[in-house]
This record gives sequence, structure tokens and C-alpha cells, in this order.
Amino acid sequence: MKQLLRAVKRCSVIAAVVLAAVSLQPAGASASPQPVVGGTRAAQGEFPFMVRLSMGCGGALYAKDIVLTAAHCVDGSGNNTSITATAGVVDLQSSSAIKVKSTKVLQAPGYNGAGKDWALIKLAKPIDLPTLKIATTTAYNNGDFNIAGWGAATGGGAQQRYLLKASVPFVSDADCQAAYGSDLVPGDEICAGLIDTGGVDTCQGDSGGPMFRKDNAGAWIQVGIVSWGKGCAEPGYPGVYSEVSTFAANIASAAATL
Ligand code: ARG
Repeated sequence: MKQLLRAVKRCSVIAAVVLAAVSLQPAGASASPQPVVGGTRAAQGEFPFMVRLSMGCGGALYAKDIVLTAAHCVDGSGNNTSITATAGVVDLQSSSAIKVKSTKVLQAPGYNGAGKDWALIKLAKPIDLPTLKIATTTAYNNGDFNIAGWGAATGGGAQQRYLLKASVPFVSDADCQAAYGSDLVPGDEICAGLIDTGGVDTCQGDSGGPMFRKDNAGAWIQVGIVSWGKGCAEPGYPGVYSEVSTFAANIASAAATL
């Protein structure tokens, strides 16, 4: 199971690129649109910090010129001008899309496929959009979370042209471990989903995107980074997200070096 899940994690980015290339299609084109999996279309400007990355991942604006994404979405650390970040639109084909190239990538130090699934991408110029604050304590690692992305709307499905969103409840480490056993790294990962019924989840191509909620002041706060899961939206198998509060200090100090 472990090898399989790791393989799924590695392959999904490549699969997402291929899917994105051959089959970008409007979410509304199918008879029953199922964004993310089991979601709906986000409104223009609803989640202004959302970023689509050209390797087929999501991300969020941590700073105006830094995107927070998943370690498994990038190849390593160093100078890198190969990634394009698209922001400011729910429709990836919109003529008002803001597109900026990367200059550097910083993959979580020590990342080896188990936990530590975060990375930063430095942009060639700042994007003038609201950033998404990250959780620095565990206070918000509970309740209902928002997820959003341009990834597949069904397991193995096409990447989406329009940003899709959904809400998923927190799943405890104990319940998540019951599903995934030792593949789960509880200190590094936070789970969310409808464990009894399935039906709502992130999926391939959503990786790197944020899982977020409102804080006590009513502002958006990022608690997770889309990381992995068995299939998508399967009953008994919640989505697994990097636990942002665990890495907040590392992320901040890493960002300061970019
Ligand atoms: N690893 C996937 C990606 O690269 C994300 C999978 C999320 N899966 C889930 N069941 N929540 O896009």
C-alpha cells in the first residue's frame, strides 16, 4: 500500500499535465458537474489567492511574489524559470489571467515522499492580489474546511477549466490512521473528508492547493496543502493534507531566503 500510494503521489503530477494538455474542458459541459470532486464553481474573486501552476498543480499566494505549494509538485530546489503561475481568474482561459514565471523553487528540506509535503515558488514579479495567511498554531485544525482547485472532478477525470470548490470536515488522526495505517504521518498531515459516504474530495491536479477556513476574525487562513489520498472521494479514505501549522515557522524562514 505504501509503495502504491507513493507512486500515486509521484505520477499524479505527470498525469495531470497530460490531462491538462489534452482535455481542458468547461466544468459545465458535463451533465452533472462535479468540481474538485463533489463541488461547485467558485465565483470570480471568491478565492483571490488561488494559483494554478503549469506543472499541473495548485498553490496559494503566500506573499505577492511567493506561491506555497506541495513538495511533490516540484523537482527539487534551486533556480527554476520553467514554471508559470496563473492567477486572478477562475477561468484559466480568460484573457485577464495574470501569468508570471518562476525564478526559484524551494522544496521542503528533507522531503522524501513521507510528510514535509510543502514547497515555495518565487515569482519573477509580484502579483497584486490578496495573499492567504497560514495557520501558525493548531487552533484552526478543526471544523469545516474549504478546498478549491482546477484538478480532476472524478478519479482519473480531466483537469478543469474553471476553479471548483467544496467544503470538507476535519477527520481526526485516529480515524485517518484507521484508513491509512503507517502511511499517515500524523504530525505532518491533517485529514479531511466525508469518511462515511465519500463523495467530496480534492483529486489529481489539486495538489499543492490550499485547504482553508475562516479564523475568529473572519479572515481566510490556510490549514492544509493538498497532498494525497487513496483514489478520490472514496468512502473510508479521506484526503490527506500537509499540516500547515506544523511547518509555519519553516515556511516563514524559507520564504525569507527567497
Ligand atoms: N496527489 C494529487 C495531486 O498531485 C492530489 C491527490 C489528492 N487526493 C485526494 N484523495 N484528496 O494532484
